[in-house]
Amino acid sequence: MFLKSIRAWFALVLFMLCAATAHAAARMPNVVILATGGTIAGTGATSTTTVGYTAAKVGVDDLIKAVPELKQVAHVTGEQVFQIASENMSNEHWLTLAKRVNTLLAKPDVDGIVITHGTDTIEETAYFLDLVVKSKKPVVVVGAMRPSTAISADGPINLYNAVLVAGSQDAIGKGVLVVMNDQINAARDVSKTNTTTTDTFKSTELGLLGYVVGNQPHFYRASTRKHTVDTEFDVSNLNALPQVDIAYTYANVGPTAVNALVAAGAKGLIHAGVGDGSLPNKVRPALSAAREKGVVIVRASRVGQGIVARNGEANDDQLDFVVADTLNPQKARILLMLALTKTNDTKEIQRMFYTY
Ligand code: SIN
Repeated sequence: MFLKSIRAWFALVLFMLCAATAHAAARMPNVVILATGGTIAGTGATSTTTVGYTAAKVGVDDLIKAVPELKQVAHVTGEQVFQIASENMSNEHWLTLAKRVNTLLAKPDVDGIVITHGTDTIEETAYFLDLVVKSKKPVVVVGAMRPSTAISADGPINLYNAVLVAGSQDAIGKGVLVVMNDQINAARDVSKTNTTTTDTFKSTELGLLGYVVGNQPHFYRASTRKHTVDTEFDVSNLNALPQVDIAYTYANVGPTAVNALVAAGAKGLIHAGVGDGSLPNKVRPALSAAREKGVVIVRASRVGQGIVARNGEANDDQLDFVVADTLNPQKARILLMLALTKTNDTKEIQRMFYTY
């Protein structure tokens, strides 16, 4: 009798354990990893090679295999979308990637997406996706500062953390995120701030959104700027984006770059001015002439932080210029390209810069 009840008790415990495991497995999110290259997929000559390595060598299946712990937190599948160093990322790559992300996220059995990416332009790809992804499901862009062959490579832990965030209910509706170095940042606000260190990604003054600690994301804030499902941009029928270039300003600068970019067909120009987006005397007439030809001019700043104040260092109303608000020049370029797919009206474009 006693033995029988022990056996029954064990059977019950076993059944409950199996049921719990099956339930947990059933509840594990489905996360698709889209691989695009970068250092996270890079290889070096030796284990101490952390510069001068080759980016974009390791395929997505091997990236996933290198982190068996992923299986404990998500059902992960991988797709190799590109295999490039991110300095070669183009508008066409972005359109292809965005369309793939939107197609995948429309599937009911996809809960989130992770994009592995080179860190050099990760902030640009992330912001582009933030403006054109049509889903509230999590999209996380991740990279690494050390190649996969390095001692203490940061790729595996970054990928693990990215998958955790992409599968998290807490990340839903937060816009596209960049997860690196145990930190979660909003695509709009994050930038690479150091050429080589693993703590390079910062949202500096506007602040990170949260951390990944103890195998789970912890969010503390969200961006107040509209993104993803709340934007007016739709790339589903686009095969190209309007040409928008950046003219950088420095002491002794002349109009050469502005004139050359306009002659090369720019439909929009970001002026990466000094300070509060100031316009040097030798550049202002070239920008004004470009505006008269229909080129949309956005005053941004090379400083990296702060608002470029409308009608501050230049009379934007009179010049018919737009200001970038807090977007850095490379992100202002992305917003202006998308804006120009909708309108040439500078008042409308200025509204967009205050909205996204
Ligand atoms: C790249 O951006 O593809 C190379 C650098 C990196 O991923 O850190």
